[in-house]
Amino acid sequence: MSEMRVKFSNGEFVPLEMHKVRVVQKLNLLPIDERLKAIEEAGFNTFLLQNKHVFLDMLTDSGTNAMSDQQIASMMVADDAYAGSASFERLHQAIKDVFNKQYFLPVHQGRAAEHIISQTFIRKNSGQCIPMNYHFTTTKAHVELAGGKVLELYTDEALNLKSSHPFKGNIDIEKLRALIETNGKERIPYIRMEAGTNLIGGQPFSIENLRQVRDLTQQAGILLVLDVSLIGENIYFVKQREKEFHNKSIKEIMHTMCDLADIIYFSGRKVSCTRGGGIATNDYSLYLAMRDLVPLFEGFLTYGGMSVREIEAMAVGLYETLDETVISHSPQFIKYLVERLDERGVPVVTPPGGLGCHIDARSFLPHIPSLQYPAGALAAALYIVSGIRGMERGTISTDRDEHGNEVPADCELLRLAVPRRVFTLSQIKYVEDRVAWLYKNRDLVGGLKFVEEPKVLRFFVGRLAPTTDWTHKLVEKFKEEFGESL
Ligand code: F0G
Repeated sequence: MSEMRVKFSNGEFVPLEMHKVRVVQKLNLLPIDERLKAIEEAGFNTFLLQNKHVFLDMLTDSGTNAMSDQQIASMMVADDAYAGSASFERLHQAIKDVFNKQYFLPVHQGRAAEHIISQTFIRKNSGQCIPMNYHFTTTKAHVELAGGKVLELYTDEALNLKSSHPFKGNIDIEKLRALIETNGKERIPYIRMEAGTNLIGGQPFSIENLRQVRDLTQQAGILLVLDVSLIGENIYFVKQREKEFHNKSIKEIMHTMCDLADIIYFSGRKVSCTRGGGIATNDYSLYLAMRDLVPLFEGFLTYGGMSVREIEAMAVGLYETLDETVISHSPQFIKYLVERLDERGVPVVTPPGGLGCHIDARSFLPHIPSLQYPAGALAAALYIVSGIRGMERGTISTDRDEHGNEVPADCELLRLAVPRRVFTLSQIKYVEDRVAWLYKNRDLVGGLKFVEEPKVLRFFVGRLAPTTDWTHKLVEKFKEEFGESL
C-alpha cells in the first residue's frame, strides 16, 4: 500500500493537507529577549509558559487537535440534561459503531478512566502488578495509587532510538509468558496495552502481537485492557506495515483491535479531537464492577463530567477517526519532519511515530548529565530560540522512587507533538530550521536544576533554573546570527 495518496511529479514525499482552514487563531512570535523572560518566569518548565508567549504549541496533541466543521456544528444541537441526554445516546451509538463495544462509561478525561479501572481491579497490599508494553505517566501514577506496581515488558527494540522496526510498541511475549507463569492471575489483575505507545515516541504495536497477548490472557484468565487514546495512528501504521491489513478498512482494523480487549479506555483529548474520555466493554459484569465509581468521581452516567457539547463533538470525532485522511495527518507530517531532521544529522527517534517528532536529548546534548535533565534543558533552549513549546519526556517526567532517589529515565526525549490538522507545512519547516540551528549550537546549552519539586507528577508544575548562565550566551549567539529576525 502506498503511503502517498497523491504523488508529486518529482516523486518527492510532501504531506498534503486533505482539509482547508476555515477558522484561524492568530499567533504571536515574541522577540528573543521576551522569550527568555517568559521561560524564566515559567521556571524553565514549558508546562508553565503562557500560551500567549508561545508561537507553535507542540507541547501535546491532547485537547489541541483541530476540530472539524461537523464537530463544531454538532455542539449546537447538544441536549442539556443531567440525566438521559440525547447527546449521550448519540455518543453511546458512536462507541458501539466505532469500537464495537456495548457498554460505556463516560469520564472527564483519560486519567479518570485509569483511576476507575485501577481502583476497581487492583487490590491494595496484595503485591499485584500490571504488565504493560510501556507506562504512561498518569497510568503509572494511578496504578501505584491503587496499590499496584507497573511492570514494563517492552521489547529490546523499543528503546533503541535509531531503529527501523515497524512495531516498537510491541510487548515482549516471552517476558509476559514467564511473568504470568510465576505470578498467575492472582497477582496480575489485568494486562494493559497502549496503542501508539506515547512515551517511547508514539510507536505502534502490531495486531499479531496483540493477538499473542490475547491468547496468553485467555489461557490464564487475566483481563486485557487496551488504552485506545492513540489508536487512530496505530491503525494507520498497521494498515501500512502489517500485510494482512493492507486492504482492510480502518473500521475493520479498529474492530479487530478492540475485539481482542476486555476493556478499552481513552482520552477523548486525543482520539476524538475533543475533551473528555471513556471506558467501554462488552462484558456486563465488568461494566457493573466499574459503574458506581462514575457518579462518585465523575458525574452522572450520561455525562461523566463532560459538557453535553463536548459529548456531541466526541461522537462525531469518533466517527471521523475512521477516516484515513484524519488519522494519517499527524503521522505524515511527523514523517516529513523526522526525515528532514535526520538528514541534517539531528538525533531523532526513528522510525517516525504517530504523536510527534521525538528528539533524543542524550545524543543532542551528550555533555549534560541525566540529573541535569537534558530533555528539559533542550525544551527550554528550543523555546528560547524559536518560541516553539515542546515537552520534556525524560528524567523530569520520572518521579523519584519510594526512597526519594532520582531515577534517570530510560530515554531523554524532547517531544514536539504534531496535533491533527493544526500546523501548515511552512510552520513545520520553521521547526526544522530552528531545531537544526540549535543542534549546530548545542555546545551552548547547559543543564537545569529543580528549585521547586512536587512529589507526584513533578513535571507538571515543578520549577527549575539553569545551572549556569548558558541561556544568556545562547541568546547572544542567536542575535549575532539572526540580527533583527524574530
Ligand atoms: N493514555 C495515553 C496513552 C495518553 O497519552 C494520555 C494523555 C492519557 C492516557 C491520559 O489522558 O490526559 O485525557 O487524562 N496524554 C497527554 C499527552 C497528557 O500529552 O500525551 P488525559
